Amino acid sequence: MRHLLDTKTLSRESALRILDVAEDMADTQQREVKKLPTLRGKTVVNLFFEDSTRTRISFEAAAKRLSADVINFSAKGSSVSKGESLQDTAQTLQAMGADAVVIRHGASGAPRTLATSGWITAGVVNAGDGTHEHPTQALLDAYTIRKRRFGDDSRGRDLAGVKVTIVGDILHSRVARSNVWLLDTLGAHVTLVAPPTLVPQDVSAWPARVVYDLDEALAGAPDALMMLRIQLERMNAAYFPTEREYSRRWGLDARRLSALGADSIVMHPGPMNRGLEISAEAADSPRSTVLEQVANGVSVRMAALYLLLAGAERGEDPPAGTEKENPR
Ligand code: NCD
Repeated sequence: MRHLLDTKTLSRESALRILDVAEDMADTQQREVKKLPTLRGKTVVNLFFEDSTRTRISFEAAAKRLSADVINFSAKGSSVSKGESLQDTAQTLQAMGADAVVIRHGASGAPRTLATSGWITAGVVNAGDGTHEHPTQALLDAYTIRKRRFGDDSRGRDLAGVKVTIVGDILHSRVARSNVWLLDTLGAHVTLVAPPTLVPQDVSAWPARVVYDLDEALAGAPDALMMLRIQLERMNAAYFPTEREYSRRWGLDARRLSALGADSIVMHPGPMNRGLEISAEAADSPRSTVLEQVANGVSVRMAALYLLLAGAERGEDPPAGTEKENPR
């Protein structure tokens, strides 16, 4: 794997490979010493042009647990705020010897530009670009669904027939887009639920069913219910009457929570607006996988960085030091 830019073009085989390597990585994270020597001598640059808490620290933890050197570069306070272009920033990173660049950018397509420009030789990982994609989030979500469903028997399995309902601000959500493509590739059935104003225009070309009424969607007994954050910072107009009205019609309240099937799970990529799209009861219930998603994110990002930086050299070998019989 040279880059990880989207899930739309990610094959089923590559997706399962990342999820399975993430299982190996998760096993190593149960040990007292979590650090593996796999990426010793490699440099990973976190290039964040947009605010982020969990995604940035998740990539940082993943790179450090593989013994890579990590450079955190956030646009605030850098020359970018003085008008330096993406090209100049990229070429500076190249000159410093970056082996992988993890980029979050407000413009859809920025990671692909970086990967195909010829400015850098480093592998590029998209950590969220505009409203386009957020592939590692979708991979950690798929990992989480698979783990809850199959437990220790997850390796090699896809999500055939699993019903996933994604609710909320689809329009502004790169998480929703990446999930729709990946879930479809893995055989899941996706339903999208949102007010009509928060459904993208091109949705008819997506492999998903669109419903406007949350209770109607819940009657279909989803296995996983993914609540999305209302992205007020991307809204330049009024997309719904009031927050109160939004949570009444599209929020996961206690009544809707109790109507879910016995094994169905509640997901949220974070950060949550408690009381708006998700109630505290739902966020803190045993069905909630919010914190599992965060923990699994580190394993999935370790897998992605490993496959980008070490996988090419090592072919199909398992990550060094991840074999159970050879604990370090
Ligand atoms: C998401 C993002 O930034 O796209 N969050 C995340 O990566 N943890 C979703 C969001 O901001 O709502």
